[in-house]
Amino acid sequence: MISIIGNGKMALAIAKGLRDEEIEVVGRNEEKLKNFSKMTSAKYTLLEEFDCQDKTIILAIKPYALEELHFTSTAKEVISIMAGKKISQIRQHIQAHTYSRAMPNIAAEYLKSTTAVFGSEYAYEIFSKIGKAVKVNSENELDIATAIAGSGPAFLALVAEAIADGGVLCGLSREISYELTQGLFESFSAIDKSPSVIKDSVMSPAGTTASGYATLEDNKVRSAFIKAIRDAYNKSQQM
Ligand SMILES: NC(=O)c1ccc[n+]([C@@H]2O[C@H](COP(=O)([O-])OP(=O)(O)OC[C@H]3O[C@@H](n4cnc5c(N)ncnc54)[C@H](OP(=O)(O)O)[C@@H]3O)[C@@H](O)[C@H]2O)c1
Repeated sequence: MISIIGNGKMALAIAKGLRDEEIEVVGRNEEKLKNFSKMTSAKYTLLEEFDCQDKTIILAIKPYALEELHFTSTAKEVISIMAGKKISQIRQHIQAHTYSRAMPNIAAEYLKSTTAVFGSEYAYEIFSKIGKAVKVNSENELDIATAIAGSGPAFLALVAEAIADGGVLCGLSREISYELTQGLFESFSAIDKSPSVIKDSVMSPAGTTASGYATLEDNKVRSAFIKAIRDAYNKSQQM
């Protein structure tokens, strides 16, 4: 059995993704836990009644909430998905034989999370069940990966929304523009080539793509994304 501490958006996405596992959700609000149970097949336990002895735990609460966790017994394994929180910080609040950190994303529900994993083979196995797990070599790398794997869907949502808005600006209906944009992301992810190769194969001399691309470069979109990843990483260092 896997005990997920936290009943928020990520906990729910993971529990839905791990639908073939026995899941226990642990939280401080019984109403929310009941709702969580209804939406998944998880059983629930109130945080104040939870004994972590020999449990395998996914820690899915807000990073600042870690301060409020205090357990006396020792868990088998703790896998934290909290942004930024180091294992040394987690250890002060919950004892475990093994600690891992993972950074999944909200696509876990659709078994499409890309998850960075630092730690045990078991953590890697769990997150491989809800998408693609990628091993990283240190907690610092996990924090950098957080900016891509964890925050990435929000950054791509901005790109998707802007592209769709562009279609609407030119006269497409919102519905068609969204449908095309969603299909575009599916198409892009199917091409197993590097971004620069994809770009070069689409952009022909004096063509439409080259014209649009120049506008993106004029507006420093590339630089803005590079800095967004750096700033998200920097923020994780302050958690
Ligand atoms: N959202 C993402 O895309 C994403 C991706 C990767 C990792 N993460 C990480 O996943 C964790 C949860 O994020 P989320 O998006 O699921 O947030 P969320 O939906 O806001 O859920 C937050 C959870 O933390 C609990 N919590 C907050 N304050 C608490 C406290 N003082 N004591 C005990 N529990 C407390 C909440 O309990 P109540 O419901 O009782 O308030 C809730 O279960 C974060 O650490 C985040 O860094 C998120």
